[in-house]
Amino acid sequence: MSCVKTRNILAKVCLLGDGEVGKTSLIRKFVLDQFRDEYIATVGTKVSKKNLELTFPKYDTKLNMTLTIWDILGQRDFSNLHTSFYSGGSGALLVCDLTRKDTLESLNQWIENLFETTGEIPIIILGNKCDLKDDHQVTKDEVSALARNYHTVFMYTSAKTGENVQFTFKSLGTKIFETKYL
Ligand code: GTP
Repeated sequence: MSCVKTRNILAKVCLLGDGEVGKTSLIRKFVLDQFRDEYIATVGTKVSKKNLELTFPKYDTKLNMTLTIWDILGQRDFSNLHTSFYSGGSGALLVCDLTRKDTLESLNQWIENLFETTGEIPIIILGNKCDLKDDHQVTKDEVSALARNYHTVFMYTSAKTGENVQFTFKSLGTKIFETKYL
């Protein structure tokens, strides 16, 4: 008979990317299962909490992960961004808007900036607004190339329809557990 261990883990997750790519909307969809169309710029930093239950039959482990999810105004001026936003980060979601190519191009700088404070931590690249198919300026190959550069994966998400939103946070939670706690 196998004995399932339950572990409680606290993880800090940061959402990074330029303004209006959908960071706040993704968090809102994940935490509250809600979406709104109007844009309200994030002022300063917002922290939300959500519990994630993950099971790992392979390791006979059940995980109760409490995520603290950090959201900031997606400013381009990185010098203004306080390192305390990143510090203690267990993982990050790097978000671009598939309808604006420049938001993909600046993800390199977001990642480098993050790793300067945290070292290499688990990240996932998100191509958000996948519901706006007719307006996409970015190809899957381009998003995939960036992800490969950083030895990670990418996902297409929509905060509007909810596509891949739960899956994204669960995947990041899994990556955090496997790199930090095994
Ligand atoms: P900052 O606070 O400036 O950093 O912006 P943000 O990255 O938090 O973006 P936010 O979530 O405020 O979304 C910006 C706009 O895009 C809003 O009007 C949202 O309704 C819209 N939006 C966000 N995600 C999606 C999506 O997946 N699909 C569509 N169609 N619209 C989205």
